[in-house]
Amino acid sequence: MEKSDKNCHSLSRRQMMIGTAGVLAAGTALTQFGGLLSSAHAVGGPTEKWPWRYEKLDPAETAEIAYAEWYRVFCGAAVINSVFSQLRGKVGEPYISFPVDSFVFLEGGMVGWGMTCGSNAGAAIVANLIIGPRIAGAAEGHEISEDIFQWYSEASMPIFVPKNPKVTTKLVRTTSESPLCHVSVGKWMKASGFPIGSPERKDRCARVAASVAFHLVELLNDWKDGKYKPTATHKPVKEYGITAQMNCMECHGDDVPTPPMAKK
Ligand code: HEC
Repeated sequence: MEKSDKNCHSLSRRQMMIGTAGVLAAGTALTQFGGLLSSAHAVGGPTEKWPWRYEKLDPAETAEIAYAEWYRVFCGAAVINSVFSQLRGKVGEPYISFPVDSFVFLEGGMVGWGMTCGSNAGAAIVANLIIGPRIAGAAEGHEISEDIFQWYSEASMPIFVPKNPKVTTKLVRTTSESPLCHVSVGKWMKASGFPIGSPERKDRCARVAASVAFHLVELLNDWKDGKYKPTATHKPVKEYGITAQMNCMECHGDDVPTPPMAKK
């Protein structure tokens, strides 16, 4: 430290420490990434590069897996694993090495904070790993995410009914008008009267994850066949000049503010 302090006298000690930490962090990230790449390479699959190869899946089968997985790892990881567990068999790496259970934190709109419903977040992760980054011109990963968010917001959920439901009571269906966990779960709890810890609410969310997995695979299959057409019409930044969901009035009431750039 002393020595490098002298060598870097144009930098303050604090700046230098930030610099060192940054370099260390980048080094660690590289090592981890390198490890993932070489293990993928060792298996010899052609898919070690991102985006990852996709083979068409059966939507209903995928939904059944998501439903069952919800009871193990909750919504986000359930959606991811419903697709990736099948691709482990059909494609191999990098799906085999991908630590899908790391996405358990998506539950409850991320660790229970009620933000984006984990099923939506999981679907966006899957679409972007399979299709590739928008910054490299692969717009469909981004578009499928938008489509899923809007479709979810407008759907009467839960849509999917599993073959062997854990809860046999008929579940009320509600439309969230929002991709947020808090709003989606809240409207359903209000309509059904079931609290957050009830078997009914849990089964409702497991079925929502299954419904999202079903639709995600429909979109990915279309994309694989070259027939995918984006459907989302909600383009908040262009339309309103601010990042937002579509349900402005639910939060702002009649007095929806206008962002500065939209003022003439
Ligand atoms: C989930 C609730 C929610 C939704 C949905 C929402 N907003 Fe907001 N918005 C807020 C909150 C909270 C703030 C910060 C507090 C404030 O300034 O009112 C805010 C701030 C803003 C601001 C900047 C602050 C201001 O008062 O000028 C604008 C502009 C805005 N929202 C417009 C919109 C528009 C347009 C939509 C729909 C396309 C929308 N919002 C949807 C909750 C929401």
